Amino acid sequence: MRGKPAVERHTFAEVSPSVIIMPMPLRLLCLGDIVGRPGRQVVHDKLPALVRDRQIDLVIANAENIAGGSGITQNLFNKIRSYGVDVVTLGDHIYRKNDIIPTLQSSERVVRPANLSANAAGRAYTVVTTNSGVSVAVFSLLGRIFMSHLPADDPFAAADRVLDQLPPHVRVCVCDVHAEASSEKVALGHWLDGRVSLVFGTHTHIPTADAKILPGGSAYISDLGMCGPYDSVLGRRKERVLKYMTTNMPAPFDVATGDVRLCGVYAEIEPETGRALNIERIEVQAGNAEQAYDADDRPQQQQQPSND
Ligand SMILES: [Fe+2]
Ligand SMILES: [Fe+2]
Repeated sequence: MRGKPAVERHTFAEVSPSVIIMPMPLRLLCLGDIVGRPGRQVVHDKLPALVRDRQIDLVIANAENIAGGSGITQNLFNKIRSYGVDVVTLGDHIYRKNDIIPTLQSSERVVRPANLSANAAGRAYTVVTTNSGVSVAVFSLLGRIFMSHLPADDPFAAADRVLDQLPPHVRVCVCDVHAEASSEKVALGHWLDGRVSLVFGTHTHIPTADAKILPGGSAYISDLGMCGPYDSVLGRRKERVLKYMTTNMPAPFDVATGDVRLCGVYAEIEPETGRALNIERIEVQAGNAEQAYDADDRPQQQQQPSND
């Protein structure tokens, strides 16, 4: 399902007659940026039932905003793993909390964007095995358009490097495109079409309505949306952001609490080829959160506005 970049033709592996066709598709659940305590709470409360009811084989979640709205800590990585998240992706806020660095270096359940420096802490991709015995590769890419916070290399070339390194037996591959511009996400989707099973976008915190199977057989969505408070500006208290945007005066961008939702996609993948069979948006409403922070957050004060 990989090989040379192919825009016009799909390159999913041909199925050998000797390969036993699994009767059941691989079921993936991918969750958008988990924002602060409200995001953690909705994942804690809603994920187990989703996994049970839809018989999910693997849960992938972007957690770049899980600690106080920006970054991730070792403690919170362990907590969302215990909630049922199997693999964590991150984004431009990856290094906001330094104590995640040892985890990035040691755990195969978290990846850094593949197009950061080769010297950046973390692995560019991971391969994990589901309980049903299917190997799944996961990697992420940072966009370059309107993404000034953390400069990154060419994501198209980085994707090729990752795919070239994957072991031949790995047919199922998932890519998180963490980017601001929908044009860049769509372009990367076409670049990877037929070579990965699922491309999902993160970072804008706004779910998009373009979930589909691309012509080459890859499932695609421009943005999963966030797991967090939607009565907000991208998860932050709207009055604080409005004050900043209308006065240019600094304001702490505290995490909001209203209208918390879990957002992502459910996708079915043919395990023996890696081809996507189905993609469906998931959105679970959870009302208002009781609090924006708890002892796990280490809330940051006087944060300057940044694209999440
Ligand atoms: Fe981001
Ligand atoms: Fe984010």
